[in-house]
Amino acid sequence: MSTDTVIPTSPAENPAGAPTRKVFIKTYGCQMNVYDSARMGDALASEGYVPTEEMGEADLILLNTCHIREKAADKVYSALGRLRDMKKARNAEGQELMIGVAGCVAQAEGEEILRREPSVDVVIGPQTYHRLPDALRRARQGDRVVDTDYAVEDKFEHLPAAGKASIRARGVTAFLTVQEGCDKFCTFCVVPYTRGAEVSRPLRQILDEAARLADSGVREITLLGQNVNAWRAEGPDGRTWGLGDLLYRLAEIPGLARLRYTTSHPRDMDDRLIEAHRDLRALMPYLHLPVQAGSDRILKAMNRRHTAAEYLQLIERIRAAKPDIAMSGDFIVGFPGETDSDFEETLQLVEAVNYAQAYSFKYSTRPGTPGADLPDHVPEEVKVERLERLQSLLLKQQAEFAKSCVGKVVDLLLEKPGRMPGQLIGRSPWLQSVNVDAKTSQIGDIIPVRIIGTGPNSLFAEPTQGLVAV
Ligand code: SAH
Ligand code: SF4
Ligand code: F3S
Repeated sequence: MSTDTVIPTSPAENPAGAPTRKVFIKTYGCQMNVYDSARMGDALASEGYVPTEEMGEADLILLNTCHIREKAADKVYSALGRLRDMKKARNAEGQELMIGVAGCVAQAEGEEILRREPSVDVVIGPQTYHRLPDALRRARQGDRVVDTDYAVEDKFEHLPAAGKASIRARGVTAFLTVQEGCDKFCTFCVVPYTRGAEVSRPLRQILDEAARLADSGVREITLLGQNVNAWRAEGPDGRTWGLGDLLYRLAEIPGLARLRYTTSHPRDMDDRLIEAHRDLRALMPYLHLPVQAGSDRILKAMNRRHTAAEYLQLIERIRAAKPDIAMSGDFIVGFPGETDSDFEETLQLVEAVNYAQAYSFKYSTRPGTPGADLPDHVPEEVKVERLERLQSLLLKQQAEFAKSCVGKVVDLLLEKPGRMPGQLIGRSPWLQSVNVDAKTSQIGDIIPVRIIGTGPNSLFAEPTQGLVAV
């Protein structure tokens, strides 16, 4: 889930005649930030910026930041400290280097970033990326700009659509944000404060963007939202559509072979969405459905608004509809007040679900969230110990899941070249990275392969002749 990415966009889209400047975008945090970085890249392309993967040759360095845990925010300030020296050196040579901070730290800290880091020119929140070119123009005139409004206008309406070349440069899989923000207010979480209230993008915008992606060679789309399954919009029939309805519609787009979505909240998994898993071949059998904890007392204190038993019943219903679905989740250990026996209940829940993959974290106090003010914070060494126990159980389940795939014939979407000549790397339906020698196939193809072995982070496969995946 966490990622540190440099987003390439295509120089081909640089408008003729515009002075060429180079932008380096560093992305922290979740997939929504990866998507946003790409859209900021598109907005900057129309201002004459071309992407670079060399920070040293950039005229603009943009950090797209994450505020979810204390360490995530600390990373940003230490990166800014290093950039300060780089900017000084560049300015001493009479060259420009602008520094921008975007994303959730920008939203949460605003002016404070300018105060702490004199080298920062622009601070821009997630709702106002369409105003980035304007903010940079003002900064170039000597202003230090902070724009962290929850803009009234729809940023998606104002951001330029990516051109074909830039979509191709990004590959055969793509993210598409359909929903932003969160109204759930889990007591540990900053997202409702950094991303604002839940907003769904209209159906037409989503269908247009998906069609454009498919038309440019994208084979797999992952729909994104902080609460993606809370997506709601008016359908062409005048009814309110939910994510399930949207998936049925997207599955009709020619060329789009695979659909995924993340991240879901258990409370918003409705019948239609479960039916979509049963009916749609394009909808991949993988579901990231965070539960955070297995104790009802802790779930209540976290304001998750469901019990452990309800979560397990929900998974039963999902598995009844789609027996081979792989489950993924997020966990927090050491939430304030969590006792040994609460933690044991988390382990029991993990045993009961049997996850194919999962993320787990030590609780990190976020000032301003209700969790920060709760009594009985758990000592660090207890958190460390609980995290180790939980992670070893989750890793064991993950390894068992990988092993259970050996011998199976599965469809692989080929995404990129492997390390060896003739080798390609693709994704299984269950999101595993798979290496295969596939000399006659090319990136973007979906081919049946037989899984023949497991590695630490990936699987190995051989092409099958004449066999089809089940
Ligand atoms: N919207 C998603 C998750 C968003 S944040 C959901 O509802 O599940 C991604 C993950 O970060 C969360 O699922 C949670 O496990 C973790 N997380 C969020 N706040 C945290 C905190 N204060 N300390 C530790 N982990 C946290
Ligand atoms: Fe955070 Fe909870 Fe909203 Fe997820 S549902 S983004 S964990 S407040
Ligand atoms: Fe981080 Fe913001 Fe995503 S806090 S996890 S980048 S929504």
